[in-house]
Amino acid sequence: MITKVELTVNADSYDSAIKEAADIIRAGGLVAFPTETVYGLGGDAMNENAAKLIYSAKGRPSDNPLIVHISHFEQLQEITLDLPDKAKILSDAFWPGPLTMVVKKNDKVPYTTTGGLDTVAVRMPNHPVALRLIRESGTMIAAPSANTSGRPSPTKASHVYEDLNGRIPLILDGGDVDIGVESTIVDLSEDKVSILRPGYITKDMLERALGEEVFMDPGLVDKNKRPKAPGMKYRHYAPKAGLSIVKGCDEAVVSFINEQIEHLSDKRVGVIANDDSIKEYKSAAVVFSAGKRGNDEEAAHNLFSILRSMDESEVDYIYSESFDHNGVGDAVMNRLMKAAGGSVIEV
Ligand code: TXA
Ligand code: MG
Repeated sequence: MITKVELTVNADSYDSAIKEAADIIRAGGLVAFPTETVYGLGGDAMNENAAKLIYSAKGRPSDNPLIVHISHFEQLQEITLDLPDKAKILSDAFWPGPLTMVVKKNDKVPYTTTGGLDTVAVRMPNHPVALRLIRESGTMIAAPSANTSGRPSPTKASHVYEDLNGRIPLILDGGDVDIGVESTIVDLSEDKVSILRPGYITKDMLERALGEEVFMDPGLVDKNKRPKAPGMKYRHYAPKAGLSIVKGCDEAVVSFINEQIEHLSDKRVGVIANDDSIKEYKSAAVVFSAGKRGNDEEAAHNLFSILRSMDESEVDYIYSESFDHNGVGDAVMNRLMKAAGGSVIEV
C-alpha cells in the first residue's frame, strides 16, 4: 500500500483532503489525522472490521480499547447507557478539548472498539481538521495515537509516516500538534470520579468544574495494582535506548550526568535538558532541550519528538532531567516515568 500525505494546513488543500479522508473512513478504511494532543489513527468506531484494522496496523493488543472521537455532545448520548450529569458538566467545561470520559456503553458500540469492555472512552477533540473529518464522515471515529505500539505518540505527520508508511492509505498533515501529550482520561462509570491517565486537564481543573473530589487511579502509582485503563499497563513511549530520570538540585543533576558521559566515553549518551542547562553538558553527549526551565507546556510539546530524535541519533543510554509536577508537568512526568520503566536516580 502506498501512503499518501496530504497537507491540511492551507486552505486550498483542506477541503479535498478532508473529503477524501472521509470517503476512506466511510468505506471502512483508516486515516491518520491531527488532533490538539497527538495524531490519531482513525477508523469508523461503529464498524467492527475498522477497529480490527486499527489493532493490526498499530500492532496493538486487541484488549486495549480505543477512544471514540465525536464532534457534538449528542453523539455521546447516542452511545451511552445512563449518562451521568457529570458528563454534561465536563463537556461544557472542557469540550472540545483534551479530555476523554469513560462511560457505560450501549449496544451500538461494538466490543472490538472497547476491547471487550462494557464502558467506552469518548472525546471531542479541539482541532478543526479532526472535527471536520468526524462531521464529513457521518460517523464517530475510533482513534488511538497513530504510532506503532510501544513507540512515542506522534506529534508531527512525519512521525506517523515513520511508523505507518505502507500500512495505511492516507495521513492528513496538520503540522505540529499543539499540546503534545495525550488527553486526560477520567472515569465516570463509577460513583467516585477518577483519573485513569493524567494529561493537560488536571485534577484541580476537574475538581473545580465538578465541585467534588477527583481521585487518581491507584494503578497509576502503585506497581502492585493493575491500572484501570488497559493501555497504562504497557511499557509505552519507550525510546530504543534505556532511560533514567535524574532528580536533585540543578547543579547536582548536571554534574552527575556529566560524570556518566565521561564514564561512558565509548558510548553515545543522550541528555534531555532545558534551555539554560543545555550549554553545561559535555559536548560528547547528544543533548536536546525540552524548552525553558520550569515551562511544563513546552516540555509536553517537545517530549515525544525528543524521544524519537534520540532513536534517530542511535544513543546507547539517555539521562533526563526531571520536570515539575505542576499542571501538565504531571502528565509529562507520567510519560517520562513510563519511558524510563520507572528508573529514577536521586542525586
Ligand atoms: O489524546 C488522545 O487521547 C489521543 C488522540 C488521538 O485523541 N488518543 C490516544 O489513544 O491517546 P490511545 O489509544 O493511544 O490511548 C487510549 C487509552 C488507552 O490507555 C486505553 O487503554 C484507554 O485509553 N481506554 C480506552 N477505552 C477505555 C475504557 N473503556 N476504560 C478504560 N480505559 C480505556
Ligand atoms: Mg497511545
